[in-house]
Amino acid sequence: MTIQRICCMGAGYVGGPTMAVIADRCLDVQVTVVDLNEQRIAAWNDADLSRLPVYEPGLDAVVDRARGRNLHFSTDVDGAIADADMVFISVNTPTKARGLGAGQASDLRWVEACARQVAKSARGHTIVVEKSTLPVRTAEAIRTILEAAQAPLAEGEAPRTFAVLSNPEFLAEGTAIRDLETPDRVLIGGEDDSSIDALAGVYGQWVPGERILRTNLWSSELSKLTANAFLAQRISSINSVAALCENTGADVREVARAIGTDSRIGPKFLQSGPGFGGSCFQKDILNLVYLCRHFGLPEVADYWESVVHLNTWQQHRISRLVVQRLFGTVTGKRLAILGFAFKADTNDTREAPAIRIAHDLLEEGAQLAIHDPKVESAQISRDLRQDAEVPDAGTGMTAKTLSGQGAWWAAGSVEQAVAGADAVLILTEWTQYRTLDWKDLSARMRRPAWVFDARAVADPNQVRAAGLTLWRVGDGAQ
Ligand code: NAD
Ligand code: UGA
Repeated sequence: MTIQRICCMGAGYVGGPTMAVIADRCLDVQVTVVDLNEQRIAAWNDADLSRLPVYEPGLDAVVDRARGRNLHFSTDVDGAIADADMVFISVNTPTKARGLGAGQASDLRWVEACARQVAKSARGHTIVVEKSTLPVRTAEAIRTILEAAQAPLAEGEAPRTFAVLSNPEFLAEGTAIRDLETPDRVLIGGEDDSSIDALAGVYGQWVPGERILRTNLWSSELSKLTANAFLAQRISSINSVAALCENTGADVREVARAIGTDSRIGPKFLQSGPGFGGSCFQKDILNLVYLCRHFGLPEVADYWESVVHLNTWQQHRISRLVVQRLFGTVTGKRLAILGFAFKADTNDTREAPAIRIAHDLLEEGAQLAIHDPKVESAQISRDLRQDAEVPDAGTGMTAKTLSGQGAWWAAGSVEQAVAGADAVLILTEWTQYRTLDWKDLSARMRRPAWVFDARAVADPNQVRAAGLTLWRVGDGAQ
């Protein structure tokens, strides 16, 4: 079976870039990405490519080549499903906020809604592909919903048939296009060879055959959760060692290099920082924890849960030490936060370490001037659940800070953020923060002044030469 028409449900950080690359590489496949969110679809169709809803290096060029040719963005969900011979489900699967499994289990309501909509609108034979990250055995539920809907839609039509595949996505934000164009592997889990061959045929147009792995459905679903759990575990491991380094005179970067050169350990994902953020690591581990408890494996659940606990601890540890170093109080003090996105090269702030750290400091009554090259002020407002409040030019205070409460505003430049600040906190590793002119910035700050470099991107010698007191994550020499 050769795939000619693809529909992708969900035009988010995964659906948009993934389908753009498929369309770019498979000229004979028509790809339609649909979403219930009209604004998001309008943004994907915006003639101004700088306004695409997802910021990813290289994405604009790919969309520019394919959009209108064989890549389409639409809100006509039913129409796109009816036309498609393959439907990707790439919708959000956040942690449940309420009810059974709240705080751990995945909320599958959007996935189930997709399955029901495919059941309602599909025609002929349709291969349904799980692209979202899902609890192991979700394919069973999707299959049950689809099997209940095999009757023809119109009299005289042949019965409708369905196959379900699992094809988890391993892209990382900020490098999504590179990850999609040259993936380490593509994983396809399924039960019938012809469906697996059909999807492998799509990827095979640009991915070498030996990188297309085939497994059963359940191994594929579980591999995605496991990959994220292993990656996150490395970050919690190195962050735990960073805290020990700070107390013992060791340097976490030297330790990371020393252990990373062991080919069994490898050098990647050993960067100590303010803890992992992003929409998936925490959610996927908590999902794994929930599954382990569900299947009667409490020790395994506790093991993985500790990875999340350590991460939360690391974020609070950083806000706590900022308060401690600033003489035990930040009330009314100005702090410049450099970076709000959960990592560089994305405008995504979901679960960003900056949210928890900024929130802690606001609780302490600090005034935060937040700078990020890609995150919009409105997004920061939503994340902090507090509107921005620009300080009075004369007093340098806001109404809130005058009464001892925390306040924040978005600074248009790094210089603006640090003006009059007691401390700078670097929370995202944007390239521009690696080459800051510390002499110039130092002159704009109130003395004594600190730099808390949670990403270890600033040149320590330059920071110290500028008369600033430096704290770097995992640096025991300070
Ligand atoms: P997202 O929130 O950016 O996008 C999901 C989109 O689905 C939203 O625009 C939403 O409006 C849309 N949607 C919801 N229900 C719908 C429906 N019934 N019909 C059509 N559209 C619908 O989420 P995302 O970051 O793209 O993640 C999607 C999935 O991929 C999640 O399961 C996530 O765990 C997984 N994943 C994400 C990443 C990542 O880097 N963000 C990487 C790998 C896997
Ligand atoms: C991660 C995985 O890397 C992807 O393979 C996966 O597809 C994706 O989750 C997902 O399922 O959503 P992503 O969260 O986009 O990708 O970005 P990462 O590069 O993994 O970074 C996650 C967090 O860990 C960031 O906050 C980053 O700053 C932090 N990190 C990463 C470190 O603190 N140290 C490191 O060495 C690496």
